[in-house]
Amino acid sequence: MAHEDDLAKLLQQQRTRHLIETSIASAFAPEDEGLRNALTSARDAGLPEIQISPIQGKLLQVLAAACNARKMLEIGALGGYSGIWLARSLLAGGRLISLEISPEHAAVVRNSFEKAGVSDRAEVRVGKALDLLPHLESEAPFDLVFIDADKPPYPQYLEWALRLTRPGSIIVADNCIRGGKAFLPPQDDVTAGVAEYNRRIASDPRLTSLLLAMDEDYTDGFAIAVVKY
Ligand code: SAH
Ligand code: DHB
Ligand code: MG
Repeated sequence: MAHEDDLAKLLQQQRTRHLIETSIASAFAPEDEGLRNALTSARDAGLPEIQISPIQGKLLQVLAAACNARKMLEIGALGGYSGIWLARSLLAGGRLISLEISPEHAAVVRNSFEKAGVSDRAEVRVGKALDLLPHLESEAPFDLVFIDADKPPYPQYLEWALRLTRPGSIIVADNCIRGGKAFLPPQDDVTAGVAEYNRRIASDPRLTSLLLAMDEDYTDGFAIAVVKY
């Protein structure tokens, strides 16, 4: 009986979390045709379904508004879903540059940017991020940087983000909790990269930072770092 009660309580908690999540998403982060098309196009092209959630997209927009973002940099575009959220929160005349290693992914991104009506302000550049980043210095400073590509080089992406931003800029990185693995002795180069990223943003005197558990079961989320004045 005790077990059944526990199980019923767990299921109730799960339903409650799901209700809260869907209520917040429908009230604050509804998807329009452009975003929905980006998802179906990505799925049809066989891309992995690892894009951010609508609530994360809206958080990026809130952060963009907080730092008056006119220039944005994304590392890891996938099918353009997060890029559409980002591009739509640019101030007038603003630009988003999104770096993507896969030409196949980039083709989906361009098509989805076009359909979402953001291709006038958002572009995808194809290549390995660490090869492309050194060429962005003339286009800096970026007001917002979103890091969401391969995880082992996250510490190097942070170094570039710090170099390419200004006081008041915001640096966001996805997948910095990894179900808690980010806080255990690293078992692989993915968790090692994320753990080192977290250590650096937590202790760097140039940053005010926080990790936010914010996926559906609170096991992964964004690391948010604001560059101090
Ligand atoms: N930001 C996207 C999800 C990105 S998934 C969204 O939320 O919609 C990670 C992407 O990073 C994949 O498309 C992958 O091809 C790309 N990627 C992986 N390694 C990379 C590298 N070294 N340089 C640039 N892009 C990379
Ligand atoms: C993975 C990568 C991501 O950027 C993400 O948001 C979720 C999963 C992955 O490589 O498994
Ligand atoms: Mg991610």
